[in-house]
Amino acid sequence: MSQDRRPLFRLPIRRVGRDPVTCQYRCGSACAHPAPNTSTNPYFGDLLRQNISRRNALMAGALVLQSGLVGLTLSASADSSSGPAPEAPGRLTFEPVPTNTRDAVVVPPGYQHAVVIAWGDPVLPDAPAWDPHRQTRDAQERQFGYNNDFLALLPLGDDGRRALLVGNHEYPNPELMFPGLTAMPTAEQVLVMLAAVGMFVVEVERVGSSGQWQLVRVGPRTYNRRITAMNTRFRLTGPAAGSDLLRTAADPAGRHVQGTMANCAGGVTPWDTVLSGEENFNGAFVGANAAPEAMRTALRRYGFDVENRGWPSAEIADERFDLAKHPNEANRFGWIVEVDPYDPRSTPRKHTALGRFKHEGAATAVSRHGHAVVYSGDDERFEYIYKFVSSGRVDRRGNAAARRQNLTLLESGTLYVAAFAPPTAAGLDQGGAATGAAPRARGRWIPLARNGRSLVAGMTVTEVLVNTRLAADRVGATKMDRPEDIEPDAATGRVYCALTNNSYRGAADNPLPDAANPRAVNRHGHILEIVEDGRDLAATAFSWSLPIICGDPADPSTYYGGYDKTAVSPMSSPDNLALDAAGNLWLATDSEYALGGNDGLFVTPVSGAEAGYVRQFLSAPIGAEVCGPVITEDRRTVIVAVQHPGEMSGSTADSPASRWPAGDLPKPGVVAVWRPDGQPIGT
Ligand code: FEO
Ligand code: CA
Ligand code: CA
Ligand code: CA
Repeated sequence: MSQDRRPLFRLPIRRVGRDPVTCQYRCGSACAHPAPNTSTNPYFGDLLRQNISRRNALMAGALVLQSGLVGLTLSASADSSSGPAPEAPGRLTFEPVPTNTRDAVVVPPGYQHAVVIAWGDPVLPDAPAWDPHRQTRDAQERQFGYNNDFLALLPLGDDGRRALLVGNHEYPNPELMFPGLTAMPTAEQVLVMLAAVGMFVVEVERVGSSGQWQLVRVGPRTYNRRITAMNTRFRLTGPAAGSDLLRTAADPAGRHVQGTMANCAGGVTPWDTVLSGEENFNGAFVGANAAPEAMRTALRRYGFDVENRGWPSAEIADERFDLAKHPNEANRFGWIVEVDPYDPRSTPRKHTALGRFKHEGAATAVSRHGHAVVYSGDDERFEYIYKFVSSGRVDRRGNAAARRQNLTLLESGTLYVAAFAPPTAAGLDQGGAATGAAPRARGRWIPLARNGRSLVAGMTVTEVLVNTRLAADRVGATKMDRPEDIEPDAATGRVYCALTNNSYRGAADNPLPDAANPRAVNRHGHILEIVEDGRDLAATAFSWSLPIICGDPADPSTYYGGYDKTAVSPMSSPDNLALDAAGNLWLATDSEYALGGNDGLFVTPVSGAEAGYVRQFLSAPIGAEVCGPVITEDRRTVIVAVQHPGEMSGSTADSPASRWPAGDLPKPGVVAVWRPDGQPIGT
């Protein structure tokens, strides 16, 4: 290790919204560096730049807001054919949580909450008791990991009493994990951190007949599992598996990878497996500038070239993280991984057919004609939105043979990237004042690869799938304001996408505002709604609008579905999304304190008279963000991940800014929220 090259404490970075410490450890302070998308991809924003001056272009962004492209109401109520919207069955009546700065989880009056599991709690039956002063790799591999993010709840049995809680551990923070740390982490501490990330599966059970859930004390035969960045063997599938770009000294066949990391959001498939997105994986590597010249362009495009990364020095524990020695190891992360939680001995897979980028997550639904459709955002400034449509159809027979068949669906299909056209006069004429309908613009899905064939001139299918960003650059995809979670609704063909923020939009030499990303210096983000043509998620064209533009409601550039802005809860930087069974959209934030409060969980109906009435449902402790909201099918429980409590400048394990949930150190954990009266959440 070269300690001078990788300073542990405080990098001089520009604060954008999130605390600099979170930026440092999660994404290597990506926002302090130029955005890696320097492609000349001639998308709409660049066309604007050619035709009008910068000042006029910024005005064009403002005009987009004023013109009503944002939608006069949220979509479902905006269909002129649908008549007066009926009272939504999931009508929300809870008292919103006010802006909170206390070190506590805060829920509305009449609700209760409790921790289900937190960092260090036993996962495997032989896990030792957690001792922050004597952490070992061996112990951490058996315990609940650090910085839980995505969550899923999958049923065990038919009576609704038991379930598997599955989720991600995104990244470690040595300053908050190790008391007494005064220098770079030791090799053993690096191994602890590599064991603290990845994924988990734990059995949980309902408490009595309530909406509360608790851990099951498991025996040797259990579904419980830890998947880590070091120990777990993954199998590569799809067209790029076995290719030259994926071969290393340790895996000359290019078909197996040790570990997963930087797992951010994810999704549950219709066949009850869990997908997880490998996001800021580049941060674990060093040595990109010593990698072979032929790889440098791609490494730069994925942000590997920036030294002083915040992620702990993985290469001191495992030299494969040094790209000077093992350059292709870089290509073995950045995938969507699929885990079958019902088979604890199964080998999880990395699916190359879904492309390699900084996957925020992967949300799957079934198209009209039965194909599996996976939406995934590439979460970096000016990156793209993708979807994958499987070649095969989902087998709904519900037996073991059907499940085996469905487990192969993500190995072959078509990978697309999104291009958003600006609204035309005709498009605006279709909506607006005359009909009361939301005006919409059009967009299309541009195919990059299909069933093992490249559809991008000059690139092989392996190149398209491994260096997907480079492929998308060539075809005119739209550069977005950090695409985070995406939530499709198969019943309506509507797809919600969180664009969390991008304070570089329109700043310096960065791309200008455009129709889909209309604000310069977009500090608070927005929600994009896609309506797939024919309400078919496999469609290759769509219409779109912006139902919510976040920020202080008093800021005239904000928009909350047309609802009275004096009544909504201020919301900044939407990140994770979930739709509940009543059609409400839940939004977790990652930088709410750009508006003065701790991060939280918000919810709004997407139809009816209260569409756009965003209300805060939960607030996180100091320094934490809220992730992975799960709203159970019976709407009696909301489960959230409280990630990185206490993570802020100057906060350490010895002197933390938060002690949530209880004790000396802050501990990331999972919280269940329910109503003691058993009524549905939100009502
Ligand atoms: Fe891990 Fe895109 O946030
Ligand atoms: Ca995220
Ligand atoms: Ca989601
Ligand atoms: Ca997040």
